[in-house]
Amino acid sequence: MLIEEHKSLKNYNTFGIDCKARYFVSVTTINELNEVLKNKIHPTVFVLGGGSNMLLTHDIDALVIHINLKGIQLISEDKETVTLNVMAGENWHNFVQYCIKNNYGGIENLSLIPGNVGTSPIQNIGAYGVELKDVFKSCSVISISNLTTRNFSKKECQFGYRDSIFKKEEKGKYIITDVTFKLTKNHHKTTIAYGAIKEILSNLSIKNPSLKDISEAVISIRQSKLPNPKTLGNSGSFFKNPIVDLDTFKNFIKQNPEAPYYKISEKEYKIPAGWLIEKSGFKGKRFGDAGVHKKQALVLVNYGNATGNEIVALSKNIQEKVKQLFHISIETEVTII
Ligand code: EPU
Repeated sequence: MLIEEHKSLKNYNTFGIDCKARYFVSVTTINELNEVLKNKIHPTVFVLGGGSNMLLTHDIDALVIHINLKGIQLISEDKETVTLNVMAGENWHNFVQYCIKNNYGGIENLSLIPGNVGTSPIQNIGAYGVELKDVFKSCSVISISNLTTRNFSKKECQFGYRDSIFKKEEKGKYIITDVTFKLTKNHHKTTIAYGAIKEILSNLSIKNPSLKDISEAVISIRQSKLPNPKTLGNSGSFFKNPIVDLDTFKNFIKQNPEAPYYKISEKEYKIPAGWLIEKSGFKGKRFGDAGVHKKQALVLVNYGNATGNEIVALSKNIQEKVKQLFHISIETEVTII
């Protein structure tokens, strides 16, 4: 196992920010992970997965452990379902493709989401009407402080909209080593209600879409709206869609009757942050190398050499303007480091 010093993390975060790790090690087995945790070369540990949901604003004075654990194992199956255990370092989209190839249903709508399997539970990734929690069974973790292992059930993870216990009271305490999923083998419960998916399938005259048809529709929607991190640095949605109470919603919709929204309950409404940001005039705007994507205002981008602080400054300007115009606060979805 090679421990590198002052290593640039530019290729390890999808925003492409050039910050350095004091120490860096990539672990490929649980034994290696145990070994680096046991003989810590630095008192602080920083866990790095796919680097797809973070914005680095400074060098990391810590031992950065890149979780590169690989493997997909079939745990059990019956006529209708299959249970798979997937190591944390598997690329999320590759796992989705593996499932589609094997006709395992449940995550086709989550095609092309950047990042790794091990970080997917942390923010309960979601897209086009499906969330990770719909197929999640449990995950195994190792404690950073005392190396004990334990399992978190779905209930214990306390999943919410882009949220879990790993962002709240258990934040920073554990490394997720593998995730167990329950998927369908037959009678797939497909979710195609999302407008653009329906439209693509109907244009192709597909009435009973296969998992592959749905995945391909999702890929084409994402490719038309969301920048590829390999060519334009970004972390997907930079902000969460705000959830507002009934009074705030009534005032907002009275002023902006044309705005899109989703009713969550009698008391709560979700308003697309992308719409608020676009109406605040930021869509497609560029400030140095930091910018707002021209096709989806929820996504901030790095045109090349933006620093994390430049992106944070832009995000603060956006938050202030949205608050001033709509009296609604938007929170970041990406973890700022
Ligand atoms: N909208 C605008 N302008 C924009 C962007 C969006 O007016 O620049 C409007 C759209 O017209 C639409 C509404 O906002 O009426 C919703 O837009 P979209 O369907 O693109 O979805 P979103 O709410 O902006 C969320 C997720 C995405 C996920 C999509 C599809 C969050 C924070 N984001 O975006 O997730 O792919 O729904 O399910 O919930 C991610 O987390 O990285 C991500 C990309």
